[in-house]
Amino acid sequence: MSYIMLYPKHFNIFDFMYETLFLGKEIIQLSVVDSTNLYLKNMLDKSSKKMEGLVVNSHHQQSGRGQMGNVWESEIGKNLTFSLLLKPALKVSDQFLISKVVSLGMVNFLTDLGIEDVSIKWPNDIYVGDAKIAGVLIENTLKANLIENCIVGIGLNVNQINFAAAIKNATSLQLLIEKELDAEHVLKQLLFFIERSYLLLKTAKHTAINAAYLTHLYRLNETHFYEIGNERVEATIVGIAATGKLQMQLKEGVREFDLQEIKFC
Ligand code: BTN
Repeated sequence: MSYIMLYPKHFNIFDFMYETLFLGKEIIQLSVVDSTNLYLKNMLDKSSKKMEGLVVNSHHQQSGRGQMGNVWESEIGKNLTFSLLLKPALKVSDQFLISKVVSLGMVNFLTDLGIEDVSIKWPNDIYVGDAKIAGVLIENTLKANLIENCIVGIGLNVNQINFAAAIKNATSLQLLIEKELDAEHVLKQLLFFIERSYLLLKTAKHTAINAAYLTHLYRLNETHFYEIGNERVEATIVGIAATGKLQMQLKEGVREFDLQEIKFC
């Protein structure tokens, strides 16, 4: 158990509310949807004038989407499955900075709750120890070489305590804090931390963002086994390229990998 109680026992960690400037000022709350990312994308297809900061949250996703075409499983009504709209006015070549600020916002939120050993498993899975608590799926629409709309889909395990046997390393806030939480409250607090982190990007604090991301990167400078092609090899994460590729030290030297080219063992 890596949770340390920072607050007196009688104190509700959500007794106070952080206020955002623009993120989640408008929240579309759905009871059921195929995927909140798809819902937001369809809205944008109809009118791309949607406001930055719009959030679509659903109690139940029937076809929640994960990275690399995977399905995102989430017990109905227990967790957060939502998407938010950002308009970062960023060059396409800088798009990985969005992944970084969103992940950092989530790390800061969990750390603020008193949860320890929170890290970012490249590219943007959020881990507590060796267990995954949240996943992020970012989908951009482009205009020339700029990002016009950025849909950030987030699945955060809040009150789910049983996970399918196939999901080997999942955790949730309730498992860590030993307390059932109000998911809507969690959403509002999380949005505050994501917005604060995103403002670093809006104000071009790229060096600070890159440094903070590396500080929280899971397994940085540690040697572990990875699956590359059909081979299981020992390698060490040594950095992240500006493109967002993972830089690994292998026997033969440093190589860069895309998400589909390498698997954590
Ligand atoms: C992953 O770790 O594979 C990414 C998971 C992202 C899941 C979220 S849930 C809300 C949003 N809508 C989706 O269909 N997917 C994202």
